Amino acid sequence: MDYFQLKDGVLHAEDVALSRIAEEVGTPVYVYSRATLERHARVFRDALSGLHDPHIAFAVKANPNLAVLKVLANEGYGADVVSSGELARALAAGMKPADIVFSGVGKTHSELLHGLEAGIGQFNIESEEEGYELAAIAERHGSRAACALRVNPDVDARTHEKISTGKRENKFGVPLDRAAEIYTRLAQEDGLDMRGVAVHIGSQLSTLEPLETAFEKVGALIAELRDKGCAVTHADLGGGLGVPYKAGEKMPSPEEYGSMVARVTAKWDVRLMFEPGRVIAGNAGVLLTRVIRSKRSGNGPPFVVVDAAMNDLARPAMYGAWHDFDAVAPTGDRMTAHIVGPICETGDTFAMDRECDALVAGDLAVFRTAGAYGATMASSYNSRGFVAEVLVDGDCFAVVADRIAAAAIMDAERVPDWLG
Ligand code: LLP
Repeated sequence: MDYFQLKDGVLHAEDVALSRIAEEVGTPVYVYSRATLERHARVFRDALSGLHDPHIAFAVKANPNLAVLKVLANEGYGADVVSSGELARALAAGMKPADIVFSGVGKTHSELLHGLEAGIGQFNIESEEEGYELAAIAERHGSRAACALRVNPDVDARTHEKISTGKRENKFGVPLDRAAEIYTRLAQEDGLDMRGVAVHIGSQLSTLEPLETAFEKVGALIAELRDKGCAVTHADLGGGLGVPYKAGEKMPSPEEYGSMVARVTAKWDVRLMFEPGRVIAGNAGVLLTRVIRSKRSGNGPPFVVVDAAMNDLARPAMYGAWHDFDAVAPTGDRMTAHIVGPICETGDTFAMDRECDALVAGDLAVFRTAGAYGATMASSYNSRGFVAEVLVDGDCFAVVADRIAAAAIMDAERVPDWLG
């Protein structure tokens, strides 16, 4: 459920007409709803209420906007970060260092140090090599790094191959069959407090079965580690829950996820940790765009060219992803069209042969479910600048990320004298 609804024939974010935002801020622009973010944060937390003291860390990669992070910090969420940049954002948004988990397959020396100096709660180690490097840094720093070992359970998440992370051939984690020996060795390191295991098999999962299979393997590993005399007090179950991108699409609910987790982990005797991203932010945002013009080439449906492009919302071009596309002021008339951006490659296509509200040049429309992996994946391709972001709260709104003009990006470039 979200707070992007038609009121008096005009699509609103909460109580703000999207047409007002377009007039005052321009398009394209991402619009987030505070009430939706809070609702999703609470629904997810309530779904885990059967567990003892679960730790919830929002996956910052899904939406790193400071205002969005602040909303979630106010909800008591921690952060799952994968770079120094994300760590700095989580801290700036007021997330407690102890509630921050540092994931990622390629943390650099300086990122590991940054995490230690910030006093973060946990590092999710993705290889034995990373463990030794962190141990050495921690010893030099005079501290001990709390760690979970990320395992690769070799489970097919049955999602898009580019966002599947838990198959043996993927780069993530250590192979399950080597996890116990690696954990035991890392547990000898003075600089490390090996306290748990972590798993994340992929994103936009449309069924719970792969998660359940992966969690069962993690449960067996925890038992094996304890048999070997290792302490295991934490288990991080990652993120991955899918969200509906099409009106009416069915996805596992947070409640179903929560009860599956409670059932599978009942005897684990650990503090469970979670890293949801999309399920919190996805339906809390739309990308608001204006139709530049409609054109025909050949006999097929018209091309509706909008002012948003693949540089603003990369998911359709990158994963063939579907985003519902709706007029801000629908007339009731419908049409079939190809929805494209202005960028000079055919991949800059949001939808082909899409049945949608009838639109003409100048009309406003939204791509829905753009609150996760939207603005954060933007680029300035075709020298288009970076898209702005707005947060709505009831009947007011604020620009929470300025549009970065193409000229400002050009200002950061230099032509050396020796080029004449
Ligand atoms: N934890 C880890 C270690 C992750 O790698 C991810 C996402 C998450 C948590 C959050 O997963 P979520 O709950 O959002 O599914 N750009 C792609 C999605 C990439 C996801 C990467 N990892 C997309 O637009 O679909």
